[in-house]
Amino acid sequence: MIKTKREFSNRLLDWFDQHGRKTLPWQVNKIPYRVWISEVMLQQTQVATVIPYYEKFMASFPDVKSLASAELDEVLHHWSGLGYYSRAKNLHKAAKMIMDEFGGEFPDTQASIETLPGIGRSTAGAILSMGFKKRAAILDGNVKRVVARLYALDGWVGKADVLKQFWAIAEKHTPADRVDDFSQAIMDLGATLCTRSRPACSECPFVRDCSAYKTETIAKYPAKKPKKVMPVKQTHWLVLSCENQFFVKQRSMEGIWPGLFSFLNFDDAEGLKNFCDEYQLDAEKLSGHSVFRHTFSHYHLDISVQLLMLAKKPKSLKVLGGQWFDPAQPKSIGFAAPVSKVIQKLQSES
Ligand code: ADE
Repeated sequence: MIKTKREFSNRLLDWFDQHGRKTLPWQVNKIPYRVWISEVMLQQTQVATVIPYYEKFMASFPDVKSLASAELDEVLHHWSGLGYYSRAKNLHKAAKMIMDEFGGEFPDTQASIETLPGIGRSTAGAILSMGFKKRAAILDGNVKRVVARLYALDGWVGKADVLKQFWAIAEKHTPADRVDDFSQAIMDLGATLCTRSRPACSECPFVRDCSAYKTETIAKYPAKKPKKVMPVKQTHWLVLSCENQFFVKQRSMEGIWPGLFSFLNFDDAEGLKNFCDEYQLDAEKLSGHSVFRHTFSHYHLDISVQLLMLAKKPKSLKVLGGQWFDPAQPKSIGFAAPVSKVIQKLQSES
């Protein structure tokens, strides 16, 4: 068992000395500026993809000053292919801030680094620990995975109280000595051994301490975002069809699909039947067509579709203000997505 903080970092550093990555381009000449650029590039992109981009970026913008005085377009051009362009815009903006507000010197406290755009707590910790060799914890995706498994933490890290727990563990284990190697080591452990799928547990220096390994629950960690339990609502659609046309009506501007066209709809099957009686539509001929689910952000809507084929268009429907839609002669009216789906399906079946 890991008894002390020192034991954790010593064992991790021993592993790092033997197996860690030490020749990545941002690991040579570790100054805050170089660490910063690499960390931002690595925020959403794999190491192998980042390397050539990083080298070209450094050749063009070797320091804060050259980045701050570059045109934004030029910076974006260097980013072309990396994606998430807000990262590049933030780098450029932050470089200008360092020049204007910090006299061209990279800020060297957690709070001041975090004032720079695009830099959160973990990236600031990486810059402090790897660039300044100051004791500061990091908690990127790799580290979160390691922590979650080592302690079998069940909560989802997107929740503030859970995140706080992860940070407390990360802080507790971060040593004052060799903190730069420690940061790199814990990330490497996550990236190379404690991988998302098929981790190499037998090679891990913490295999005997890992709660998830001991309970054979590695795949459970890190805990996923809990699925929202969403309510299910029902609606009943009446698809009136005549001469290959469909009766549709524009929806009100309130409620779902405002202003779009849809079939006649009812809260329940009884309402649909009553409507048929009222408008002298032969409910005997209703054929249950399909039931399918449409999911909105906050609920599921189960749609039951009843089809009624009519020999002629009933005049009684005029009062409803709808119209007959002929798919062969499309007009520029907008349908709610599931309505288009039903129309397409009916056409393919006819
Ligand atoms: N991912 C984030 N930071 C990294 C680093 N310094 N080395 C490798 N992968 C990383």
